[in-house]
Amino acid sequence: MKVIAVINQKGGVGKTTTAYTVATGLHLRGYKTLSIDLDQQENFTFTINVNADKSIYDVLTGNVSIESAVNKTDIGDVIIADKSLATIDTVLNTVGKEYRLKEALDTIKDNYDYVIIDTPPALGILTVNALAACDSVIIPAQADIYSLQGIKQLEENINVIRKYCNPNLKIEGILLTRYSARSILSREVTEMAQQLAESMNTKVFESKIREAVCIKESQISQQSLFTYAPKAKVTEDYSKLIDELLKEEK
Ligand SMILES: Nc1ncnc2c1ncn2[C@@H]1O[C@H](COP(=O)(O)OP(=O)(O)OP(=O)(O)O)[C@@H](O)[C@H]1O
Ligand SMILES: [Mg+2]
Repeated sequence: MKVIAVINQKGGVGKTTTAYTVATGLHLRGYKTLSIDLDQQENFTFTINVNADKSIYDVLTGNVSIESAVNKTDIGDVIIADKSLATIDTVLNTVGKEYRLKEALDTIKDNYDYVIIDTPPALGILTVNALAACDSVIIPAQADIYSLQGIKQLEENINVIRKYCNPNLKIEGILLTRYSARSILSREVTEMAQQLAESMNTKVFESKIREAVCIKESQISQQSLFTYAPKAKVTEDYSKLIDELLKEEK
């Protein structure tokens, strides 16, 4: 089982879109997948449209087993978020609070090929749980300068996690999202992203996710890009990203 978290403390950079599309793509390619929505905003949860009475909050607080919180959906297995996650900092305050998700995932590690975690735009205890539990991270970033600045801060956090909790934590790469190949700005930002990636011992994914309206449309209609817009260029971008991730395994 490989656990991949999609992380960036900056809001609106394409974390949920990426987590959802990568998880769906892996599922459609025949892998056993589990997706976990760790964000109180419930964006990922909205797109799958299930009626669940247990969420990742119940798992993290130890109320239920992780297996009992799993929902079978047409994009693979999913554990939903709920709004109570907003209070998790006050509820999870005992020693070992960073490892709740890891502990839970260890109990089901034979059930899946991939676990994909969508995280909130913050570096709080939920993101720390994701970083402690995962093998690697994908860092989506919009092709702009502020977005890249935030990655430096994220790197510092990743280094702390490596030091204290998860020494083998790997950065799969920086994923440029809402990308426009024709703009000079995007090209300049790509260069900067490449330098940044090098300094972090990682790469910028070759696949860049272009700006496309069908992303929003597919989310509103609660479908994945692969079913809503199978022929769209942006769907191809995400397929290529999945190819890159799988190639890394070999
Ligand atoms: N490639 C793209 N082209 C056009 N719109 C996009 C693209 N990627 C994401 N979006 C849109 O941008 C918005 C933010 O995307 P998303 O929710 O995936 O980001 P996020 O990082 O998860 O945000 P948050 O930090 O709030 O959780 C959404 O409305 C989404 O539909
Ligand atoms: Mg999100």
